Amino acid sequence: METLGATVWLTGLSGSGKTTIAHKLLKVLRARGLKVEILDGDVVRTNLSKGLGFSKEDRDTNIRRIGFVADLLSRNGIVAITAAISPYRSVRGEVRENTERFIEVFVDAPLEVCESRDVKGMYAKARRGEIKGFTGIDDPYEVPAAAEVVCHTERETVDESVEKILAALQARGHIPSAYAADGERTVC
Ligand code: ADX
Repeated sequence: METLGATVWLTGLSGSGKTTIAHKLLKVLRARGLKVEILDGDVVRTNLSKGLGFSKEDRDTNIRRIGFVADLLSRNGIVAITAAISPYRSVRGEVRENTERFIEVFVDAPLEVCESRDVKGMYAKARRGEIKGFTGIDDPYEVPAAAEVVCHTERETVDESVEKILAALQARGHIPSAYAADGERTVC
């Protein structure tokens, strides 16, 4: 079955689990034969958004660029999974309006949990004042008002989060059901 393509927009604090969910989701969707790409904030900032900083203006530019590419992919039968903090509600809304088959996924882990994970040691640096304007510490994160999916990564497994996203995509007809023509269910 030809897939229409879609954008799965993961938003949440640094360390909330966006990248982990994105990679598991990619694996499951590819196993189902779908075309998938990930646009990860950390990666995009080394090429497409190289040179941008973390002011509101630069973050919004980063998000608009990611949104632009995600829309191109979605319109061409690819599931684009984005994993950027995308802290500002207004530019997320703008991208939603401009993107085909967009679903927003709030990767909701409490700041204390993200900070205790501190995968890259950046929260510690932010607390010491070595990084200024760090999201959640001294820069805002605006919680989504109407995300299609909310993943509570401090109490859900990655597979549970991925299942919720798959269900949301299927419910909207953006991807085929897990039950393939041969009746076999694809497992995570
Ligand atoms: S966004 O705000 O523009 O969406 P993006 O997801 O691309 O951010 O990049 C976030 C990553 O950049 C973080 O995971 C972290 O590794 C790094 N980073 C460096 N400085 C900051 C900062 N001031 N705030 C948040 N993340 C930062």
